[in-house]
Amino acid sequence: MKRFITFEGGEGSGKTTQIKLAADWLRERGIPALSTAEPGGTPLGRKIRELLLNRGSWTIGAEAELLLFAAARAQHVREIILPALEAGQWVLCDRFADATLAYQGFGRGLDAGFIRTLNAFSAQALKPEMTLLFDLPVEAGLARAKKRAAGGRPEAAEDRFEQEERAFHGRIREGYLSIAAAEPERFRIIDGAGSVETVHREVCRCLEALPQLPFLEGERA
Ligand SMILES: Nc1ncnc2c1ncn2[C@@H]1O[C@H](COP(=O)(O)OP(=O)(O)OP(=O)(O)O)[C@@H](O)[C@H]1O
Ligand SMILES: [Mg+2]
Repeated sequence: MKRFITFEGGEGSGKTTQIKLAADWLRERGIPALSTAEPGGTPLGRKIRELLLNRGSWTIGAEAELLLFAAARAQHVREIILPALEAGQWVLCDRFADATLAYQGFGRGLDAGFIRTLNAFSAQALKPEMTLLFDLPVEAGLARAKKRAAGGRPEAAEDRFEQEERAFHGRIREGYLSIAAAEPERFRIIDGAGSVETVHREVCRCLEALPQLPFLEGERA
């Protein structure tokens, strides 16, 4: 069975923190887990990410932004995700197709139907088995992201999305929640406001609830 799990949510909601903890948690249980991230999961993706971070030297319209993310995803799926799944690894991915729908669809107002078609094309129709959505009030997420930037990650301070107006991030949060509401069987909405440890426990609970986890037989016994 292919295990492809995505981590989604707005800026500073805890995705990157939690994906690391989740991958370690799985590996400690003997599960081969690969943790990867969009858009930078491949060399091409890192180039595209640099273009998207855009330190003010050029403009990127909403359509071009959408297509750049789609290009990064297409390469990521082909080069990293599908081969890892074929090799029997679990793949945990920090942002995936839902992010495109939330940011470029709900956030930028591009056509959702077209984005869904483009997402399916870029991902070779691959869909996550489970998506963890870290939900957090916009202000709290942005405050965390700012604090992180101040803590020595200058490139994050220049992130185009972090500089967007509050209303943009509000649309993203609502967008994610409505995407999740439409596919309740795939989504788990996790309150991102708790401590790192509390949120991690919730993530583990979601992983444990996946069917047919051989390692849990031993733990439960
Ligand atoms: N539960 C938490 N409570 C308090 N601070 C947290 C929590 N989770 C993460 N942080 C801190 O908040 C900042 C943002 O977290 P993180 O980078 O994991 O978020 P993210 O969702 O990956 O953000 P981005 O969308 O910008 O990539 C980091 O400095 C992290 O250490
Ligand atoms: Mg992150």
